[in-house]
Amino acid sequence: MWLRALICVFILCASSTLAEYAQPTLPPTPTEIVRHHGYTAEEHTVSTPDGYILKLHRVLPQGGNDTTSRPVVFLQHGILGSSVDFLLQGPQKSLPFQLADAGYDVWMGNFRGNWYSRKHYKWNSWDKKFWDFEWQEFGVMDLPSMLDHVILTTGGKKVHFIGHSQGATAAFVLLTMQPEYNKIFKTFQALAPITFLKNTKSPFVKALARMTFTTDVVSEYLGDGQFIPSARLLDLGGRLLCKDHATTQSLCLNTLFLLTGFDSDQLNKTLLPEIFTRHPAGSSVYELIHYAQVVKSGNFAQYDHGIVGNLKRYGSTNPPSYDLSKITAPVTLHYAPNDWISTPEDVEYFAQKLSNCTGKYLVQSPKFSHYDFLWGENVKQQVYEKVLKVINKT
Ligand SMILES: *[C@@H]1O[C@H](CO)[C@@H](O)[C@H](O)[C@H]1NC(C)=O
Ligand SMILES: *[C@@H]1O[C@H](CO)[C@@H](O)[C@H](O)[C@H]1NC(C)=O
Ligand SMILES: *[C@@H]1O[C@H](CO)[C@@H](O)[C@H](O)[C@H]1NC(C)=O
Repeated sequence: MWLRALICVFILCASSTLAEYAQPTLPPTPTEIVRHHGYTAEEHTVSTPDGYILKLHRVLPQGGNDTTSRPVVFLQHGILGSSVDFLLQGPQKSLPFQLADAGYDVWMGNFRGNWYSRKHYKWNSWDKKFWDFEWQEFGVMDLPSMLDHVILTTGGKKVHFIGHSQGATAAFVLLTMQPEYNKIFKTFQALAPITFLKNTKSPFVKALARMTFTTDVVSEYLGDGQFIPSARLLDLGGRLLCKDHATTQSLCLNTLFLLTGFDSDQLNKTLLPEIFTRHPAGSSVYELIHYAQVVKSGNFAQYDHGIVGNLKRYGSTNPPSYDLSKITAPVTLHYAPNDWISTPEDVEYFAQKLSNCTGKYLVQSPKFSHYDFLWGENVKQQVYEKVLKVINKT
């Protein structure tokens, strides 16, 4: 029901006003935002072994094309997001600009399916086949392809990896399934990482975990594989619902933040129209189903294909858990008290399973939540200064 309601809100509000909103302008791309603020931007394209074409964005200081002395940082966006999320608070606050100012060579990845990575050699994005992936593919296909490109381009440097939300999930999957990547992570800063979901408070995720996912249910509730169908509809919905002082603002807040928790004290509300024109940036239903399985089983494990499917794929009736003992890269955890999806209890439980956890930072502000790691008014003091301190030391 939650899902149906969520999708209906977007579609209804968008379609009823289509007529009066005939020509939406596209929001600026990450490259445009970076250049607008006087930094140098580059776009790079990589392809994955299974045929997806992904876009990377790079941020350097103005005229800063001499990158030989700059250590490399790789930022990976979170659930339903894209690289643009990191940039929305501008040069005074946003992490990529802070890092570029501090002397780093900053790269930002985009997972398959989001607006910047919605291409495939064989499938179109309206083919159901295109959307047949979940976050394990982000970890074992997308991240290695992007990281290999960065390493090749920068002459073999190790990277400081910063993953928000699902960006951290995918990197943990990578480090367990292809442990050779541990040695190229100079540090791993996990911001609101999603791993175990024993204590999730998200009504949306809990509702999902109660459902049984037959193929019929998936297509009835969630469409043909893509979680949120149309960027155009969302663009309209975001602009119309989320303008400052609009009476609908509280509604608009509740729908996106149902997933992850929200408190209006922390969020910079002038950003809402920006956020809603870009969010969700597209993703497959199977990502959410996989998280729902993690809630249900209590295990951070591979996708559950049912007994027959599991036997065929894994040779066991249950999907194997990710072997966290394989993670040897030094991991620093940053998490927040009011995060519904990456709860302090679950992050601390995860920390006990890590062999090389080099720091745990619980944000002080009691109302800080999942998206405040990107858009919180005080995120610089609460999180980014600690991140910079850790990576500057290494
Ligand atoms: C880098 O900058 C230098 C000096 O500003 C310039 O001469 C050179 O052409 C630039 N190289 C590239 C690849 O943009
Ligand atoms: C909110 O974000 C806007 C746009 O980046 C910025 O101009 C403004 O100063 C921010 N407000 C606060 C209170 O930080
Ligand atoms: C932790 O990470 C550091 C830095 O990469 C490495 O030198 C060390 O061997 C790691 N320790 C363990 C126990 O894996």
